[in-house]
Amino acid sequence: MTPEKLISIDRDHLIHPVSSWRDQEQFGPRILHSGHGTWLKDIHGKELLDGFSGLWCVNVGYGCKSVVEAATEQMARLPYATGYFGYASEPAITLAGRLAARAPGNLNRIFFSQGGSDAVDSALRFIRFYQHAKGTPERRHVIGLARGYHGSTYTGAGLTALAAFHRDADVPLSWQHHIPSPYAYRHPGDNNDAAVIAASVAALKAKVAELGPDKVAAFFCEPVQGSGGVIVPPKGWLSAMREACRELGILFVADEVITGFGRTGPLFACERENVVPDMMTVAKGLTSGYAPMGAVFLSEDIYTTIRDNTPPGVAVGHGMTYSAHPVSAAIGLAVLDLYEQGVLANGVKAGAHLASRLNTLADHALVGDVRISGMLAGIELVTDKKAKTKPDASLKIASKLARIGYDKGVLFRAFGDDIIGLAPPLCCSVEEIDILCDRLTAVLDTVADDANVRAALRQ
Ligand SMILES: Cc1ncc(COP(=O)(O)O)c(C=O)c1O
Repeated sequence: MTPEKLISIDRDHLIHPVSSWRDQEQFGPRILHSGHGTWLKDIHGKELLDGFSGLWCVNVGYGCKSVVEAATEQMARLPYATGYFGYASEPAITLAGRLAARAPGNLNRIFFSQGGSDAVDSALRFIRFYQHAKGTPERRHVIGLARGYHGSTYTGAGLTALAAFHRDADVPLSWQHHIPSPYAYRHPGDNNDAAVIAASVAALKAKVAELGPDKVAAFFCEPVQGSGGVIVPPKGWLSAMREACRELGILFVADEVITGFGRTGPLFACERENVVPDMMTVAKGLTSGYAPMGAVFLSEDIYTTIRDNTPPGVAVGHGMTYSAHPVSAAIGLAVLDLYEQGVLANGVKAGAHLASRLNTLADHALVGDVRISGMLAGIELVTDKKAKTKPDASLKIASKLARIGYDKGVLFRAFGDDIIGLAPPLCCSVEEIDILCDRLTAVLDTVADDANVRAALRQ
């Protein structure tokens, strides 16, 4: 089919996730055709360096033969096996075992979902089951962070704290609450690490006191906030929040959908601070985006409490047709092999180079803040560095960034509030990181050269 025909069908029929339906119909899609390593090709043959790993997921890069072979072999042998009625498949069992062995602490029990949203939704359901099993059903409130993202199911969208997901959606639900995020750059007053950490701990304690100390079930957070603008909390924040939850007697849930599988360095970001959550959600890097799959890890205590308080022969009523899908699981195993055979180590090396290159961008006229954690980075743009002024919406910086980036052959995330997100594949070479940073600098220079942007800039 010709590109023109595809574009026309897309405009007429395909609803895109989190998009302006009007813009999508007006401008049509950019159609990707193939990928290899860190590189993508669009349908017109244009080469693009993927600085965002698709949607922070293709951690091992495109076109990995071992992953394709594992999927092909599994698909030919057994493309589907239900997990219902006691059935299972070999790859799903093996993957659960290997993940449990690598997960922090006693997060030994794993429920597979199809992605991150339903992993979060599953976690919320398991929390409910757990509170009932414990005899504390009144503990129903759940607290998240401002700017947090926890997916797009009905319940997840309410725990998410981004306006687009709440508009006309009647969420957050009455039991969902948010406290300010550990956003040092825009933290009011003193913004040193200790002050930011203390403010978060105090906000959590105050929120629990306000809702009732015996009415709160759990606190959810991303170890690094991704879709909220790559907000990297100070070192020590994660462990301080984990400790506060222990003190408050509420569950601590780490949403590692982006940070899991090497994005910040180790397999799970919690490992950096020796944090053992009560529950952990993952997706994306679990299969590196080669097939849909997510997972919820439950601590032994949560699992056994639910098990022991469910009468014999009675089902724990949560499941999906594609839970523990054998092809996704076979892909997960092949991807885990790649992580352990060098991709994680390469990510650490490439991440150090990325940090050294991006830190020099702090001097750019448009750059207010650079935030980096491994192969995850955010660059916040301002028109007045001293006053930290966000660019006026009329300048349409985000759409300029995305358009110019594409023209210059580099893909990154241009968040609506003028923050650039980077998450290159962990297989990136140092040379590819240089190309990424050179092209990104050229994009920023071009935007800064726009007459209206130049007029708005205050040095
Ligand atoms: C932290 C976090 N949780 C949950 C999700 C939802 O995952 P999915 O898009 O696979 O449903 C995302 C997606 O970006 C995420 O970043």
